[in-house]
Amino acid sequence: MSWDLFLSLLLACALLYLGLLLVYFVRADGDLTLLWAEWQGRRPEWELSDMVVWVTGASSGIGEELVYQLSKLGTSLVLSSRKVNELERVKNKCLEISNLKEKDILVLPLDLTDRNSHEAATKRVLQQFGQIDILVNNGGRSQRSLFEETDLDVYKEIMEINFMGTISLTKCVLPHMIERKQGKIVTMSSLMGLAAAPLGSGYCASKHALHGFFNSLRSELVMYPEITVTNICPGPVQSNIVQNAFTEKVSKKVENPGNQHYKMATSRCVRLMLVSMANDLKEVWISEQPYLFFFYIWQYAPTWAWWLTNKLGHRRIENFKSGLDADSSYFRPMKKKSN
Ligand SMILES: NC(=O)c1ccc[n+]([C@@H]2O[C@H](COP(=O)([O-])OP(=O)(O)OC[C@H]3O[C@@H](n4cnc5c(N)ncnc54)[C@H](OP(=O)(O)O)[C@@H]3O)[C@@H](O)[C@H]2O)c1
Repeated sequence: MSWDLFLSLLLACALLYLGLLLVYFVRADGDLTLLWAEWQGRRPEWELSDMVVWVTGASSGIGEELVYQLSKLGTSLVLSSRKVNELERVKNKCLEISNLKEKDILVLPLDLTDRNSHEAATKRVLQQFGQIDILVNNGGRSQRSLFEETDLDVYKEIMEINFMGTISLTKCVLPHMIERKQGKIVTMSSLMGLAAAPLGSGYCASKHALHGFFNSLRSELVMYPEITVTNICPGPVQSNIVQNAFTEKVSKKVENPGNQHYKMATSRCVRLMLVSMANDLKEVWISEQPYLFFFYIWQYAPTWAWWLTNKLGHRRIENFKSGLDADSSYFRPMKKKSN
C-alpha cells in the first residue's frame, strides 16, 4: 500500500469516527458520564434489587414511575407524599406488576413542609424494614409566574417544600446511614438547578440551593465513602409538574398546563436515574436535545448561552402572557426514546 493511500484511509477513519461521535452526541439524552455508565457500568438489576428505598413524591410523575421500575427490580419500597389515596393506587399497581408482597411496600403519608413529622416518619420506616439503603428526595413543586406579579408567600412555600423539606428529611435519615456507614442519598434537582429560565425564579432558586447544599454535604461525608450523594438534573420530562406548579398566589392553580407530550418519556428518565443510583454518579444531566446541547453551552460559554436564553425566554414570556402554556411552540426535542 502506498503511503498516500495509507494516509487517506487514516483520514477517512478519523472523519468517520468524528462523524459517529457527532451523531452520538446529537442523539444523546444524558451527560457523558451517565451514558458511559449505562453502556459499561453496573446494572441496576445487579445493584439495587435487595435494597430498601424511600421515595418522596411517589404519588405522581417521575416518583410514581420510579417506584414501578424499582418494584420490578425487587426492592422494598416506602412510598411518601401527601395524597394517601394516590399512594395506595401506586402501591396496588406495584403489587400487580412485580413479585413484591404487601409487607415489602409501606405507604407512609408525608408532607415535606411538616418538618416536625419527619423524625417519626423515619422511625416508622426503620421499624418496618430495619434499614434505609436509599433515600430518593423526589417530591417537589415547580412555578409558572413572573417575579413582579408573585406573592413572596409563594417563594416561602417553594423553598419550604423543595429545599427545607428535603434537607429536613435528609437530616433525619443521615444518622442512620452514618451508623451503618453506608447509604445513598439521591436528590431530584433539575437543569434549572444549574441554569435558569423565566417564570420559575423561585423554583430555580430552590433547585440551585439543593445543589449547593448536597455538593457541600458530599464533601462533609468524605470520611464515609460508602455514603453517596447523587444530584439528578433532568430537563423537561412528562409528569404532572406543570399542572401542580405554583402561580402568583399560593392557592391559585395553573390555568393552562398545555400539552406535555413533547417532553422526555418518564420511563426513560427513570431508567437513567436507576443507572445513576447503581453507579453512584455524583451529578447527572438527563435530557433530550436540544435542551442538553443548550445546557452544554451554559457550562462552556455562559455569555453565549445568555443570548439564547434571552431569545427563548422572550418567547416563553409572550406565550405565558397570552394565556398559552409557556412552552408552546418553544423548541421541541428531536426524538423520543422510551425505556
Ligand atoms: N417533570 C419535569 O420536567 C422535571 C424536570 C426537572 C426536575 N423535576 C423534579 O422532579 C421531581 C418530581 O416532579 P414530577 O415532575 O414528577 O412532578 P409531579 O408529577 O407534580 O409530582 C410531584 C410529586 O411531589 C409530591 N409533592 C408535592 N408537594 C409535596 C409536599 N408538600 N410534600 C410531599 N410531597 C409533595 C406530589 O405528591 P402529593 O401531591 O401527593 O403530595 C407528587 O408525588 C420534582 O422535584 C421536580 O422538581 C421534574
